[in-house]
Amino acid sequence: MTSVLDPQPTSAIPLPAAGHRLRRTRRTPALRALVRETRLHPAMLVAPLFVVPGRGGRTPIPSLPGSFRLTPDEALAEARSLAALGVGGVIVFGLPAAKDAEGTGAWIADGVVQEAVGRMRDADLDLVVIADTCLCEYTDHGHCGPLLRDGRVDNDAAIRLLAETAASQAAAGADVVAPSAMMDGQVAAIRAGLDAAGHLEVPILAYAAKTASAFYGPFREAADSAPAFGDRRGYQMDPANAREALREMAVDVAEGADLLLVKPALPSLDLLARARERFDVPVGAYQVSGEHAMIAAAAERGWIDGRRTNLEALTSIVRAGASFVITYAAADVARWLREESR
Ligand code: PBG
Repeated sequence: MTSVLDPQPTSAIPLPAAGHRLRRTRRTPALRALVRETRLHPAMLVAPLFVVPGRGGRTPIPSLPGSFRLTPDEALAEARSLAALGVGGVIVFGLPAAKDAEGTGAWIADGVVQEAVGRMRDADLDLVVIADTCLCEYTDHGHCGPLLRDGRVDNDAAIRLLAETAASQAAAGADVVAPSAMMDGQVAAIRAGLDAAGHLEVPILAYAAKTASAFYGPFREAADSAPAFGDRRGYQMDPANAREALREMAVDVAEGADLLLVKPALPSLDLLARARERFDVPVGAYQVSGEHAMIAAAAERGWIDGRRTNLEALTSIVRAGASFVITYAAADVARWLREESR
């Protein structure tokens, strides 16, 4: 091929060696598809759902474009349409009718999550129904467990309530419970609670390496779960620590975690890669609300291409080691993936 450039005095500049012309496999779309190492599939996506009491309610969440506060009947309708798109699962969060110091709304048999999950079970949907197991949406102070007199979360009281919550979610029909409170011993306590209640087959998805991240902002607005005072740094991890994150994961696996979750996703790709190498349980990632909001806001301004950015972010998360990803873009991504021929 002739160059558009003038012939250069190239004698001093070595040509690429024969085996080092990596552009060969990038020449056509078909070649690129043949050598592609990472592919997304709708079945590996999990959509978060926010459930509120009532009937027929579907209120948009301003900070989470595309997400809604749904009443249990609407949550069922949403899950049904996600299943039709081939999305792999939903993770259900609740905003209770009333909050108290202990978070009673989390484990009562007629709680919002229990009702939504029960409807999904009765509908026998072809997707995985995951219940987020935490107390911060249910406590009036917004922390992830009951408080000691000095304002710290009472770890050992919290894990008893988390076990109670997980058992009630399993009784309602959750396929998987996902403890996100970052309390020590929560996985072991929940496993014991589930087993004692006869839910031997319900797996635990442990939010094992969950950092005290600034990226959860929009979620806390969506779930009305911002702490009334202080922050979560006394229980969620310091984002600066990778070795400690691996210890958190090792402890959760030892306590009986069936699946591990790394969160947030894009800021934790190193943790994902290391988790994938070190542990032989399935490892997932949570592309959290702030990660979603940044892409949505920049795309709205026309600064980035929302579709391509989202697909690239999710592909990177999977390339780093995630087998599944919780993402607010699940429905959109499932639609986009259907449009791609390769
Ligand atoms: C509950 C919980 C949170 C998120 C998932 N589960 C909030 C928090 O820890 O403050 C955040 C998810 C998101 O930002 O999308 N503890």
